[in-house]
Amino acid sequence: MKILVTGGLGYIGSHTVVELQNEGYDVVVIDNLSNSTISVLNGIEAITGIRPEFEELDLRDNSKLKDFFERHNDIDGVIHFAASKAVGESVGKPLFYYENNVSTLIHLLQELLKLDKQNIIFSSSCTVYGEADKMPITENAPIKPAQSPYGNTKQICEEILIDTCNVSSYLKTIALRYFNPIGAHPSAEIGELPQGVPQNLVPYITQTAIGLRKELSVFGNDYPTPDGTCIRDYIHVVDVAKAHVVALERLLNNHQTSNYEVFNIGTGKGSSVIEVIEAFERVSNQKLNYKIVERRTGDVMSAYADISKAKNMLGWTSSLTLDEAMRDAWQWEQKIRTK
Ligand code: NAD
Ligand code: WQD
Repeated sequence: MKILVTGGLGYIGSHTVVELQNEGYDVVVIDNLSNSTISVLNGIEAITGIRPEFEELDLRDNSKLKDFFERHNDIDGVIHFAASKAVGESVGKPLFYYENNVSTLIHLLQELLKLDKQNIIFSSSCTVYGEADKMPITENAPIKPAQSPYGNTKQICEEILIDTCNVSSYLKTIALRYFNPIGAHPSAEIGELPQGVPQNLVPYITQTAIGLRKELSVFGNDYPTPDGTCIRDYIHVVDVAKAHVVALERLLNNHQTSNYEVFNIGTGKGSSVIEVIEAFERVSNQKLNYKIVERRTGDVMSAYADISKAKNMLGWTSSLTLDEAMRDAWQWEQKIRTK
């Protein structure tokens, strides 16, 4: 079985390529290297013993994509990670985000609809729920008006998939709404490579501990939560990657109950910012330098997943703990800084 992974050299994509290859799939990766490096191929090869086929290609380039599919018309499924993901950046560059995240999905679907096998898994996000009314968040929770162009692109892409599935019954789609993927491969061969100052909590923690940043700013401790800091559903990236393999099998084995399905991908457990810091301190055996500052604009107080749909219908649950994720994130940070 041949699987196309777009954005397959990125953070979640590279971990998914590893899991696919471990399960015996042939993988072709498309990436334009805008937020990744070619050396990720070495990491994937070091873990699996297999170097996936790779094409440096920008999905915005319609004609190159068309040419790619003419040469690879035997693809059995597509996992579409490629997108830009910096929420703050998207506010300043809305057109870039709409082009890079929305037009690329359209190009991909146009080509996919010409194939015999029309299976696609789409990377969505818990960001579509915004500040949800009820915890844990089920897939039926209302989609809230997006707080950023990035969030908007995920909502629009889901709608594009729904509308296309409505008229193309051969097209089979699963949208996975990830909560907060963290950590790295336990081998420390692949992990997250944030450009510039990290906006996300865990890379900020590990970069502070390694000495790249002076201290972590904790954005607010006056939320109505047990310790006053925000709550999120942090999930090990390897668990997220494995969810793609089971979702793909559901598509390939025709097990869907409708040709568009959506699943939350989280642990089902919320952790506060302070709990994440404490987990880091436990696994690294060191104190983290941090201070409490003002709330960050746009942050929701709490977001964690109801995972019963994924458990019941995909037969998937996460298996790695927050401590394991922090251990692997820390191992990875140490490895890349000593290279
Ligand atoms: P990432 O930036 O590490 O990976 C994305 C990859 O896509 C990169 O390698 C980048 O070079 C590539 N890419 C971007 N635009 C491209 C284009 N036009 N053509 C070809 N390649 C292109 O991001 P990630 O964290 O691995 O996220 C993967 C997907 O999951 C994204 O769609 C993201 O929005 C979504 N997501 C991520 C998170 C998260 O916290 N990391 C949470 C929810 C959803
Ligand atoms: C987590 C918690 C911060 C940094 C983002 C995107 C979302 C989705 C997941 C893609 C929050 C706190 C953070 C720091 C802090 N991505 N924090 N100091 O905000 O849940 O979501 O990633 O789809 O769209 O918005 O993740 O890692 O930025 O923050 O105190 O320096 O850590 O306030 O409570 P978030 P995050």
